[in-house]
Amino acid sequence: MAQIVLAGGNGFLGKALAAHLAAKGYEPVILTRKPKAGSTFKQIVWDGATVGPWAKALEGAFAVINLAGASVSKRHTNTYRQQILSSRLLPTQALGNALTQSLNPPQWWLNASGINIYSCTSCRINDEQAPTDGTDFLAEVCRQWEWAASSFKLPHTRLVLLRTALVFGRDRNSVLSQTAALARWGLAGTIGKGTQQMAWIHVADYVAAVAFILEQTQWEGPVNVVAPGKLTNAVFSRAVRRAVGMPIGLPAWSWMVRVGGWILDREAELLLASTCAVPRRLLDAGFAFRFCDVEAAVADVLQNQSSV
Ligand SMILES: NC(=O)c1ccc[n+]([C@@H]2O[C@H](COP(=O)([O-])OP(=O)(O)OC[C@H]3O[C@@H](n4cnc5c(N)ncnc54)[C@H](OP(=O)(O)O)[C@@H]3O)[C@@H](O)[C@H]2O)c1
Repeated sequence: MAQIVLAGGNGFLGKALAAHLAAKGYEPVILTRKPKAGSTFKQIVWDGATVGPWAKALEGAFAVINLAGASVSKRHTNTYRQQILSSRLLPTQALGNALTQSLNPPQWWLNASGINIYSCTSCRINDEQAPTDGTDFLAEVCRQWEWAASSFKLPHTRLVLLRTALVFGRDRNSVLSQTAALARWGLAGTIGKGTQQMAWIHVADYVAAVAFILEQTQWEGPVNVVAPGKLTNAVFSRAVRRAVGMPIGLPAWSWMVRVGGWILDREAELLLASTCAVPRRLLDAGFAFRFCDVEAAVADVLQNQSSV
């Protein structure tokens, strides 16, 4: 069975991907700092920073997918910003070094990144050709993360940068979970101005898109992993209210979201900033999204049907 090594594979996306890839006949192997008891999949310990015995897992593997990184949901203090950055750069560099030394390296290296790398302005279509000129902290993280991965010369391994939007699934740290919590308290009228754009993807489409990429023979470079179409926060908030059955929604003004974020140690800008991107490569290659409609996606996750 073809092995796929998932670095940081015990997190939200890693668990969903491992289950999906296993169902497709691959053998997932998880690189983790702290193995979990009772895991269905083989786990190998690494430190996420240096090449060690774990690197043997790469020999003859079909692909390595790097998802390692500290959560961006927690409030971005100066100290925590360093952690967000180093927890992405160090694992990426360790993987790149291990791949450079590998005698029989995988065909694929898929490295996580974010659509935050783009600026979001009304006159721009952020396909994969768009400038990576986002101006906020997360944009800088994504640029450095992509540079770190791209700096290795790997003649036998194709590098794909998974520029991923907010993934809607049953992760309690996600923007969707936080908005659902606000909605249940009658507070998800609009969040901030409500006009900010949101790039998103349902977790079922995320895992299917990654598996689809692994079937392409010549792909490399950036791929926007995001649902097609535009979405504003106001429309998203209404979908969440409907899904949780809350008829009213008082507006949560920006300052309220920031104070709430400070109290709950959550990063308010994830709810307030605009993000937008177009999945040009996936669409051009014929990838069929299951969830293009946000109402259906939100209802599916919150009412607990196909999501992970
Ligand atoms: N979820 C989203 O909506 C979304 C959107 C865009 C991009 N992404 C990116 O996709 C990746 C996976 O997201 P996720 O939601 O699955 O995150 P997650 O649930 O927080 O999982 C990330 C994993 O990274 C590992 N990790 C954390 N700090 C580390 C460090 N210092 N060194 C090595 N490993 C470390 C942890 O694994 P162990 O503790 O087992 O070692 C953790 O399970 C992240 O890099 C994230 O930025 C996610």
